[in-house]
Amino acid sequence: MRIVVLVSGTGSNLQAVIDAVNSGGLDVEIAAVGADRPGTYGVERSAAAGIPTFVVDFKAYPDRAAWNAALTEAVAAFAPDVVVSSGFMRIVSADFIDSFGGKYLNTHPALLPAFPGAHGVRDALAYGVKVTGCTVHWADAGVDTGPIIAQEAVAIGDGETEDALHERIKVVERRLLVSTLAALAAAGTSE
Ligand code: GAR
Repeated sequence: MRIVVLVSGTGSNLQAVIDAVNSGGLDVEIAAVGADRPGTYGVERSAAAGIPTFVVDFKAYPDRAAWNAALTEAVAAFAPDVVVSSGFMRIVSADFIDSFGGKYLNTHPALLPAFPGAHGVRDALAYGVKVTGCTVHWADAGVDTGPIIAQEAVAIGDGETEDALHERIKVVERRLLVSTLAALAAAGTSE
């Protein structure tokens, strides 16, 4: 199974996938890693791991449609079976997702459909829920919407900060992402 991973930031979830592949625990090929802006650590660590990288800078395009078209072309060049949004903080078009047969996987640091968006951890803390978690799902063109594949709960500690909670969620999220990819690879991607 060939995957292209899209990142906007540090790419620690991506690193977990790279590590699992390199240790022989995950039978997927990371064909490329792409970002929506220059200078991400996610792209830097991919290049260091010898993975092809690309940037389709959102700010370099006149509008979202032009950026989507360029992103589609850049990803399609690597002919992925599955595209993974791993901390990719941009909404892609339905056309983008259709181009890859709907195989657009996303991870989110909350128990969807609760607390979608860019601040899932902050919003869960602000609401005051006692349990949150993470979700791996097939993404559609909405904000963190689409069929759920896997979820795991994380209890929130008294007075826990956003950063500390997010870090604990990410530990679970990385494991869930790797196990989901392993299951998809074993099933021949078309689950
Ligand atoms: C992850 O927690 C991911 O779920 C979240 O961004 C973080 C990226 O971390 N994505 C979203 O909030 C999507 N709505 P990373 O760059 O260290 O992998």
